[in-house]
Amino acid sequence: MAKATTGNVPRETSARGGRLLAALALAVLALPVAASGPDAKAKAEAEAKAEAKPVTESLQVLHWWQSASERRAVDLLAERLGQQHVQWRDAMVPGGSGIGAGIVLRSRVLAKDAPEVAQLNGIVIRDWANLGLLADLDQVAARGDWERQLLPGIAALIRPGQHVVAAPLGIHRINILFHNRALFARHGLSAPVTWPDFERAAAVLARAGVTPLAQSSEPWQVATLFETLVLAEGGAAYFRQLFQQREPAAFADPRLGRALTHLRGLKKWMGAPVRELSWAEEVRQLADGSAGMLVMGDWAKGELNAMGLHSDRDIGCGAVPGTAAFHLYNVDMLSMLAERPAQRASQETLAAMVVQPALQRDYSRVKGSVPVLRAPDLAAMDACARASWTLFATSPAGQVPSMVHRMATDETARDAMVAELHRFFLNERVSVADTQRRLGVIGRRPQDR
Ligand code: GAL
Repeated sequence: MAKATTGNVPRETSARGGRLLAALALAVLALPVAASGPDAKAKAEAEAKAEAKPVTESLQVLHWWQSASERRAVDLLAERLGQQHVQWRDAMVPGGSGIGAGIVLRSRVLAKDAPEVAQLNGIVIRDWANLGLLADLDQVAARGDWERQLLPGIAALIRPGQHVVAAPLGIHRINILFHNRALFARHGLSAPVTWPDFERAAAVLARAGVTPLAQSSEPWQVATLFETLVLAEGGAAYFRQLFQQREPAAFADPRLGRALTHLRGLKKWMGAPVRELSWAEEVRQLADGSAGMLVMGDWAKGELNAMGLHSDRDIGCGAVPGTAAFHLYNVDMLSMLAERPAQRASQETLAAMVVQPALQRDYSRVKGSVPVLRAPDLAAMDACARASWTLFATSPAGQVPSMVHRMATDETARDAMVAELHRFFLNERVSVADTQRRLGVIGRRPQDR
């Protein structure tokens, strides 16, 4: 399988090289062709060669995919792009959920050193587009009939104003409780559907010396668990009031306090102290049975498969208790930076490629997400993916935009809330009431100030 090249190739060099080749090819084609003779024959052959050999352009793509399954997904994209004579040059900035990648991208744009393509998940594309930083993909979308091919929620997401400014790769479901099936069977446990089920299973596992719930103290991971608890506590409407509409009353609501208390209560099942693990390390704990359960987005499924497990047979995938009717989602997307008009054609090639049904099918299986299409190949999905896609596609009211994964609120408020939740989680002396007040201050909209 073709590997994405690392970021060491000087970007301008290869781009310039590509342009030079194109210019040479055009120059050759423009030469007046003599009617006959050996010279004409040789020239005609040279021309045919120049036409047959495609000019290779390259795109530098900034993203945060680092784990084994994420690398596989990148390799797949790079390979398929290569087949269209565009080279994927990798600019990976490590860091789960893309905190570091966002910072590097912003500073590169300010330094006029933007990559050609960036993983720019979420509603932040609206602000970037308003600043004129993103190329519009209207023509690609029209040619590919995206309006009819894509699920309506996805079509709306990538067109935050007048223009389409992102190519959607896949939809992740975040409110998933995974469990190790063999471990559960050994202890006579069944898949937890309610919180009391969860507590009973956790107690049995703890007595057996197994960590009931794999969890990291990384800020985004604490906040990811927390947002599933808010959903369990208050449902979709309350979640939106809190994180999308940021209504002051929602921050003062007792449901927020209960979700915070619940977060703290779950600590007893996580093993002490809660260590700062990468999400892939927790997936490993779930896979090897040192932990029994894990709340994580379904990118964990991609990783389980990359570890050689079978996502349906070996690992149970259910909704976080109390959230079965909801699809807490985020969408991986690629945006094209406008600063690079010379690479426009290659950017459009990549954008068109990512929504192709075959690419969607193959990419989703590797990544753990589900296709963004209205009519994907359901037979190619595992049961967990089928359930995710079906819920998302058939229940718009059940779609809940993740706060932590950038679907609900702006970056600044999100970062501040994640930091606050982290502080609350780590420091037992920080009270629920105080945290609730502080979240309310962060959430304040301009009209409430
Ligand atoms: C999410 C992203 C996923 C996965 C995860 C862990 O925000 O959508 O693709 O990379 O972070 O880093």
